[in-house]
Parts: sequence; structure tokens; C-alpha cells
Amino acid sequence: MMLNARKLFKDISDLPTIPAVVSKVVAQLDRHESEPDQIADLILSDQVLAARVVRVVNSPLYRTSTEITSVKRALLHLGFNKVRDMILTSYFINGFEGKSQPFDMKLFWMHSFSVGAISRRIAARVRYADAEKACLVGIIHDIGKVFLGHYCKDEYGRMLKEIENTSYTTYEAEREFFGTTHCEVGLCLAQRWNFPAVYCDVISNHHFSERATEDPLLTAIISLADFYCLSHNIANSLAQAAVPGFSEENSWSILKQLSKAPIASGLEHFLSELDSDYEEVSREVDLIFNTMTAL
Ligand SMILES: [Fe+2]
Ligand SMILES: [Fe+2]
Repeated sequence: MMLNARKLFKDISDLPTIPAVVSKVVAQLDRHESEPDQIADLILSDQVLAARVVRVVNSPLYRTSTEITSVKRALLHLGFNKVRDMILTSYFINGFEGKSQPFDMKLFWMHSFSVGAISRRIAARVRYADAEKACLVGIIHDIGKVFLGHYCKDEYGRMLKEIENTSYTTYEAEREFFGTTHCEVGLCLAQRWNFPAVYCDVISNHHFSERATEDPLLTAIISLADFYCLSHNIANSLAQAAVPGFSEENSWSILKQLSKAPIASGLEHFLSELDSDYEEVSREVDLIFNTMTAL
């Protein structure tokens, strides 16, 4: 199946690119190894990137009392993790901006941001070391769908029509229509964009967290957040409730096993505790959406 995913990329000449400097900045921020000065210099070597960082730090999303005009101050104010997430999300959104899709892109982003926001909350509850990373990976987990939707638009549209209001899911239908899935295609795209290995692993295995090799706990977090959003019908553009082979039980046992905080409840109860955050999550999702699409 992976071969089929790679074949899809072969003849595409207008694939959105992420500037090499952006991948480099993200990798450095991810490793927490560099000094703010070094990262600021790297960001400043790309004027579009520098302008985005300053614009976002002053947006309602991160409201500050005084205007921040330097990249270094933005880094210190937001912290490395938030800057990393914001950069990658904005390039991801912009990369596919205006590229037509057979599904509602706004709902797609709402689903992505909801999975991000829920992932962050699950991460905090299991004391995962980098809750912001969980949010970011949650946002980008389904990138393969955007690729298939745009570059195989007619067929993807036909596929969606066929499975609408059936128990068939995109994952299963993609396999039949394309001989590959959004997970494999997403992996190809993430590798092309030089995403860190752990991001690639989650994108590729978010429907089968037991296959994750880089960070199984992170993959389980994203997988359960995805399940939560689908089963609660949050921004579910494809009218689907679950994914065959998507085993939330597997993700759940990985989560319980690797959690840094004791979990006494069952899966249903654990997820239902997220319900009280629902309003806060939808406000946050609106804010991220408005900020990121305005860049
Ligand atoms: Fe997915
Ligand atoms: Fe998803």
C-alpha cells in the first residue's frame, strides 16, 4: 500500500512546499537545544516566517499587554513549543490554502483543531511531557486527507458520496478506491516536508496506535482525541462515527500503561470527563481558526 501512496506523489509538480528553514527551525525548537538568539537569527533569515511569528504573538490568540515587535521577545513570551506549533500550523494551512477540495475545508480545520485541543487536554491529564506537541500533532494528524482530496479530487469526491451515511469509513474506502490511505499519504507528505520522525509516526499510525514506534503514548493520545471528536460528532465533515480497525481499546490500554498519572476510571468515563471542557474547546478552536487563516 505504501508503494501506491508513493506513486501518487510521483507526477505532482505543484506540491505545496515548506521552506527548508522552517523545517530546520521546527526541528531545533523541538529538541530544545538551541538558545533563543540562535533560533531568532534562523527565523529572521526568512522574512515571511519572521513576520508571521510577530503577527501571531500580537494576535488575540496570545494577547499581550504591550506590542511585541522582535522575534526574540516573541520566542521568550510564547515559549519554544508554542512558536514551533504556530509556525508549522500556519505553513500547513497556507500550503493548502485555496486548493479546492471535495469536502468542506472549514469543517476539516475545525476537526483538526478540535483534535488538537482535546489532545492537549488528554496529554495534561496523563502528564505527557509536552502537551503543546500533542496539540500540534493533533492538528496535523489527517494531512493525508487534504492531499488526496485535492490531487485526486474527483475520485475522492465520488468515494465520499458513496460512503455518505453508510457504516463505511474514509480509511476503509480509501483502501478500496486508492489502494492506500490518508495515513500513508500523510506520511509521504510529512517526510517530504522533513517533519520530525515522531510527527511522521503519529500521522502514519493514528488509526493503529499499537504500531507506533517513536512515541506510542503520544500516538494513543491523538488516536483517543480523534475518537472522542468523531464519536461526539465534533466538526465531522464526513458524517462518520467511527473507523473500522480503529481500535480505541488498544489506544486506551497503551494510554493507561504509559500514563504518568494514575488512571482509575474506564475509557468511557475518562472521555466523558472531557465533556465539561467542550465550550472552552470550541472557543479555543474558533480562535485558532481565525488567527491561523488570517496569516
Ligand atoms: Fe485519520
Ligand atoms: Fe481525524
